[in-house]
Amino acid sequence: MDLSVTEQAILDGEEGAGAATAMELVVGLGTIFGSQRLIPISSAQVSGVSYKTIGEAGAHWLEEFGADARVRVPTYLNPSGMDSAQWQSMGISQEFHDGQERILKAYARIGVELSQTCTPYQTHRRPHAGEHLAYAESSAVVFVNSVIGARTNREGGPAALAAAIVGRTAEYGFHLPAARAPQVLIEVDSPTVNFALLGNVVGGLVGGKVPYVRLLHPLDDDLPGLRWYRGGRPTEDELKWFGAAAAASGSVAMFHLEGRTPDWQQQSVEGLERITITPQMLASTSTKLTNADKVDLVAIGCPHCSVEELNTIAALLKDHDGPRSGAELWVCTNHENRAAAPEAVEQIERWGKVIVDTCMVVCPIEELHHSTAVPSAKAAKYLRLESFGGQKVFFGNFAEVLHLL
Ligand code: F3S
Repeated sequence: MDLSVTEQAILDGEEGAGAATAMELVVGLGTIFGSQRLIPISSAQVSGVSYKTIGEAGAHWLEEFGADARVRVPTYLNPSGMDSAQWQSMGISQEFHDGQERILKAYARIGVELSQTCTPYQTHRRPHAGEHLAYAESSAVVFVNSVIGARTNREGGPAALAAAIVGRTAEYGFHLPAARAPQVLIEVDSPTVNFALLGNVVGGLVGGKVPYVRLLHPLDDDLPGLRWYRGGRPTEDELKWFGAAAAASGSVAMFHLEGRTPDWQQQSVEGLERITITPQMLASTSTKLTNADKVDLVAIGCPHCSVEELNTIAALLKDHDGPRSGAELWVCTNHENRAAAPEAVEQIERWGKVIVDTCMVVCPIEELHHSTAVPSAKAAKYLRLESFGGQKVFFGNFAEVLHLL
């Protein structure tokens, strides 16, 4: 790989041991993937934050790695394992809190902004089309590549952090046009589409390939609890759910949606393998995502809720006047969106918590709840895994899960 004088100096340790280790990692990855050079990135997003997922070993590694390293570009953090203000009322233990604080302090010392969200792109941190990034959170990777037209590979947490420290990433994969071309044509033969469910089905079918999705029917706007938006085309939040689910059931890092995503007109689908998705396929997948009929928690916000979603949840709760089941409600979002929707937050807090900094998957949910209802196909997949929470799961749209309260 050709390195500039500055890059070689960083590799040689002239800017400290932490930066040299980071450069070694970035160059090593580039060499494995046949990259010719490094390219500047404009921002990074780092995963591997929760004490639940990285534990003592991760905290120690971050403290050592970051002893003399600083990030060179704006760098954002994925959700941690607790809401910094509400951890006690969530039921988080003192030990977990202390371990989490160590991790956050280590990231802060490296210069990482403690944004603790998987949707930095729905705040003031939104990147622009064509920008090169190093993002680690899979749902954010697929969103910025597909919906915004920015460029990033699915980085591991340490690789994204290393790229942030050297301000560069190796040029390969989704930084180059060839990897961004569609590889499978998906035709959706259903007028009713829950995009979280569709993403789960598509990811399962295509694995890591780039799907080009064509909706064969205009979307039905009048589906209470499934769509609240007018105009017959998917909203940004629906694309967010789709990408998150496809990245979790497969390893999708980019998709095109005909008529909707920025690059779809430049793509050719001639000669591609064609798969048709039917209402039956969607229904049978939905059934498989549920293995609980009653729950002790309703958790919305995977990925983190936008302002529009907070308003939607508040409106649905206003109409919900049935008896209460006793299940708890968590709505997960980030600080910016919470602050931007005070009336919705007030309405939701009559029923439960609006939680920031964390989510139902990366907090220690296994110590707090046993069965959880979610409208997110990504969360439905992860929460049932022993390593993430061992939950019984109910999957449904927003109205269906709120109805369980
Ligand atoms: Fe975000 Fe947690 Fe889901 S990090 S995408 S809310 S698993």
